Amino acid sequence: MYKPTKIIIALVIFLAIVTFPIWSSIGSDSVSPDVEISLDTPAINALGDDASCIYDTDYMRANHMKVLSEWKVEVVRNGNRMIVTEDGREYLASLENTCFECHSNYEDFCLKCHEYSNVDPSCWECHLEPVTDSNVSEEV
Ligand code: HEC
Ligand code: HEC
Ligand code: HEC
Repeated sequence: MYKPTKIIIALVIFLAIVTFPIWSSIGSDSVSPDVEISLDTPAINALGDDASCIYDTDYMRANHMKVLSEWKVEVVRNGNRMIVTEDGREYLASLENTCFECHSNYEDFCLKCHEYSNVDPSCWECHLEPVTDSNVSEEV
């Protein structure tokens, strides 16, 4: 005779094992902290000690693509170019003029982390990457 409790316990263990790859990745960074990105840009340095991103760093690390696509929807669909954060800071919703104003070192920031994480956003057929010394020759 099978005992229902035994079946349930077996089922729970089985599900835990099968779904391990899914729940073990929840909450963990997709990016290892050992990729070295640089925040050394004129605009960020000018902000001094309390330089911060649009949202807090952990949120930006995990969700910057979401922020960008929300901005895109605001601009393209709703014609709204001003983004106001909950604490009242205003930003122009622009990849080139806002993100790259601060993160003007595309190669040592965005690109470095994307190469490390093996992502290749296809934005640059239409949007301009910041021109740095080493990619200026490709910008013809
Ligand atoms: C096929 C061309 C194309 C591609 C590819 C593309 N975009 Fe855009 N994007 C546009 C156009 C056109 C606008 C509207 C420009 C405007 O009205 O200022 C826009 C607007 C935006 C905006 C808001 C305004 C601005 O100037 O930043 C954001 C943010 C944005 N796109 C992000 C992205 C991101 C991130 C990617 C890559 C994942 C991407 N786009 C890929 C064409 C493109
Ligand atoms: C006002 C300047 C400023 C603007 C605008 C800005 N950032 Fe940032 N960003 C920063 C600073 C400063 C940090 C680091 C904050 C820290 O380490 O505490 C940062 C951190 C980040 C991080 C996390 C880096 C890490 O440590 O993992 C990402 C990703 C990021 N920004 C992407 C963006 C994107 C995408 C945009 C545009 C949607 C943007 N930022 C706009 C200043 C800015
Ligand atoms: C700390 C690492 C890190 C930094 C810094 C970073 N990214 Fe990313 N980015 C990622 C990762 C990881 C992904 C893929 C995430 C995913 O697929 O869930 C990603 C995805 C994206 C995507 C979506 C790509 C797609 O094809 O869906 C865009 C757009 C993007 N990043 C733009 C930027 C821009 C612009 C900057 C610099 C201002 C930047 N990122 C800086 C790690 C980073």
